[in-house]
Order: sequence, then C-alpha cells, then structure tokens
Amino acid sequence: MTEPQEPQDLTKVVSRAAVVRQLCRLYDDARYLEVGVWRGATFDKVPAARKVAVDPEFKLDPPHGERDEPGSEFHEVTSDDYFARIVGRDEQFDVVFLDGLHVYEQTLRDLMNTLDHLQPDGVVVVDDTHPPTHLCSLPDRDQYFAVRDYLGETDKRWMGDIYKLVWFVQTFCPHLTYRTISDNHGQTVFWRKPRTDVPQRSLREVADLTFEQMVAGEDVLQLRPWQTIRRELRRDLGL
Ligand SMILES: C[S@@+](CC[C@H](N)C(=O)[O-])C[C@H]1O[C@@H](n2cnc3c(N)ncnc32)[C@H](O)[C@@H]1O
Repeated sequence: MTEPQEPQDLTKVVSRAAVVRQLCRLYDDARYLEVGVWRGATFDKVPAARKVAVDPEFKLDPPHGERDEPGSEFHEVTSDDYFARIVGRDEQFDVVFLDGLHVYEQTLRDLMNTLDHLQPDGVVVVDDTHPPTHLCSLPDRDQYFAVRDYLGETDKRWMGDIYKLVWFVQTFCPHLTYRTISDNHGQTVFWRKPRTDVPQRSLREVADLTFEQMVAGEDVLQLRPWQTIRRELRRDLGL
C-alpha cells in the first residue's frame, strides 16, 4: 500500500502562463500559437513577437475585434478549421499551447497538425494530461455534469481523457521526448528528440486506457518538476 501523499504546497505551483512565458523567452522573437484561448488568461500574458489565438468562441475582454495588438492574430474557428484552411503552408511556431477541446482524439489531431508547423527546435505544451480524479477524466462533458451533480461534487475541474495522448506518443511517436509537469495541475511538454524506450501497444489499447490503468502506470507520464524539465529541454534543443 502506498503512503498517503502530502497535500501539494500551492505556493509552489507553476501556472500555465508561467510555463508558456518561460518557454517563449527561450526564443528570439518567439512565434506562439494557442489553441483554446477562452478569456485569454494565458494568451494575454505571453511575451512573443507573433501570437496566434484560435478558439471557436472567444470570451476575451476586450473582444478580439476591438484589439489593436501588432503581431497578434485571432481566429474564431475550431482548431480543425484553422489547420485545414487558415494556417499558412510555411507558417512555423516556436511554442504551441494546446488547450482546446479536452478529448483525446481531438487533442491528438491538434498535436499531429501542430507538428507540421513546429520548427525543428520548437516545443508543444498540452494542458490537463494528469487528471486527479476519475470524475475529472470523463471525456463526455454531459456525463461529467450528470455524475458531478449526482455526487454533489464541488470540485469543478474537468480534464477529459487527454492523458491517453501521452500513452499514444510514448507508443507511436519515438521521435518525440516528453515530460509531465509535477508541480502544477498536469501539463505535458513535448519536443523533438528520439527515444529508445518505445513499448508495444495497440491503438485500441491506448484508446481504451482507463483512469485506473493511468494511475497504475503513472510512470508513463514522466512526471518531473517544471524547472527540471526546462533545463532538460534547453540542453536537448540547445536553447
Ligand atoms: C480551458 S479553455 C482555454 C483556457 C486558456 N488556454 C487559458 O489558459 O486560460 C478551453 C477553450 O477551448 C475552446 N475550444 C473548444 N473546442 C475547441 C476546438 N475544437 N478548437 C479550438 N478551441 C476549442 C473553448 O471555446 C474554450 O474557450
């Protein structure tokens, strides 16, 4: 039986915006793409020469139509739409933050499309890859609300089944190295560096991975403190 874990010290949690900001600072005139922007809590804090925001329903204040921000572009469309008909054929980004529709298959599509537009030494951050509860990991949003109401649960976090993406990459993308941030809510950072630790799993096994299996196989996530990950990717990418 494992020992009960100490509660996380919230003063030591690294925020979404801090992760993305620190990554953008590693590049000269960083080019940044955020998929799923909502109110812009992260997007508005990112120092980048070029910033592209994609969301089918922005909740920005001021609204994107009223902003005069040289270097920023706002596309009120789904990520599929953006990658299919808007992104320039030669457009390249240094840092991409994927935080759109929180289901495995959509986020996998977002990652695959992103890799076409990620410069060779770029990084991708995927949000919500380490759900803390089974409820939080339910991929169907309606079911999530129904179960949350039934349980009278006050924790409003919803992450969906994005964690499966990490198992997918470990199995099918040996050219990518990744680490999951242990000192926040759970974001996985991906960059190009070949790996030799490639397990055998079927697509079906990844798609069917349960929350319980995720917990039992948590080492797959490669959990590390953010500053350790930052040092590692700087060394690997020569940044
Ligand atoms: C969790 S919020 C994003 C939060 C934001 N990244 C931040 O750090 O504050 C998720 C957003 O994804 C957007 N979204 C939903 N479906 C999407 C899709 N297919 N493509 C892109 N964004 C999507 C929603 O409209 C919502 O604004």
